[in-house]
Amino acid sequence: MTQHQGSLAGKVALITGASSGIGAAAARVFTREGAHVMLVARREDRLQTLVKELRADGAQASYCTADVQSAADMRRAVQQTLDTHGRLDAAFNNAGAAVEKTPLHLMDDTAYDLIMDTNVRGVWNCLRPEIGAMLTTGGGAIVNTSSVAGLVATSVAAPYIAAKHAVVGLTKVAAVEYAPHHIRVNAIAPGLARSEMVEDWFTRFPAQEAKSKASSPQNRMAEPEEIAEAAAWLCSDRASFVTGATLPVDGGATTW
Ligand SMILES: NC(=O)c1ccc[n+]([C@@H]2O[C@H](COP(=O)([O-])OP(=O)(O)OC[C@H]3O[C@@H](n4cnc5c(N)ncnc54)[C@H](OP(=O)(O)O)[C@@H]3O)[C@@H](O)[C@H]2O)c1
Repeated sequence: MTQHQGSLAGKVALITGASSGIGAAAARVFTREGAHVMLVARREDRLQTLVKELRADGAQASYCTADVQSAADMRRAVQQTLDTHGRLDAAFNNAGAAVEKTPLHLMDDTAYDLIMDTNVRGVWNCLRPEIGAMLTTGGGAIVNTSSVAGLVATSVAAPYIAAKHAVVGLTKVAAVEYAPHHIRVNAIAPGLARSEMVEDWFTRFPAQEAKSKASSPQNRMAEPEEIAEAAAWLCSDRASFVTGATLPVDGGATTW
C-alpha cells in the first residue's frame, strides 16, 4: 500500500512515548498509513534515529523532546506540530511509566507520584492543547493508552492500576464533552506487549515471563505493532462512530 492510499493519508498525528515500544511501532504504522507524524518523548537520540528511518522511507516525520509531566512541554509540542505540519488531526497519548510491584501498604509516595504524574497527568497535559488545536480545524481523533490494568486489577503495582483506570475516565469525559465538536476520544487497553518496560521486567524476574504469557488465551506476548494497529484504526475515519470506548487489545486476557 502506498502512503496516499492509507487509512491516515494526509492526517497530522502527534505520538507520545515514541522513542520505544508501542509508540515507536505506532510511528511506523501511522506513517505507513500515510500520516505525517510529530514524535514526542524525552530521549532525543532515539527520536532522531527513528525520524531519520521514517524519512528515508518517504514519510513526513519530525520530533519534539518533551516531558509529558509538564503542561508547558506539551503545549510546546502541540505548537511545534502546528508550526511544522500546519494542523493536528490525531493524537496517540501513549507515554507511560511503570514501577515494580510491592505490597500496597509498603509502597512509597515516590512510586505513586511517578506513575500518577506520568500516566494520568501526562494524558491530562496532552489532552488540553490537543483539543484546543483540533477545535480550530473542526475536529480530530485522540487515542489514550490505558491497559488491561485499567479494566481489571491485574498483578501489577497498585498506582499503575489506579492510573490506568483514570485514563479510561478521562477518555470517557473528553469523548462526551467534545463529541459535538467532532472530536472522537478513545482508549486502548493493551495486554502484554514486547517493549523495553516488559523486557526489563522479565530480565529481573524471569519466572514471570511464562506466567504473564499464560494470562491470555492466545498464550503469547503481542508485538508492539499489533497494539499500534488498533490505535491507528481508532485515529482513522474508519472508526467514525467509535468514541468514549476502551478497546482491549490483549489476546483475550480480559475475557476469562
Ligand atoms: N508493554 C506492555 O505490555 C503494556 C501493556 C499495557 C499498557 N502499556 C502501556 O503502553 C504505553 C507504552 O509503553 P511501552 O510498553 O511501549 O513501554 P516503553 O517501551 O518503556 O515506552 C514508554 C515510552 O514512554 C515514554 N515516556 C515515559 N515517561 C515519559 C515522560 N515523562 N515524558 C515523555 N515520555 C515519557 C518513553 O520515552 P522516554 O523515556 O524517551 O521519555 C517511552 O517512549 C505505556 O503507557 C504503558 O503503560 C504497555
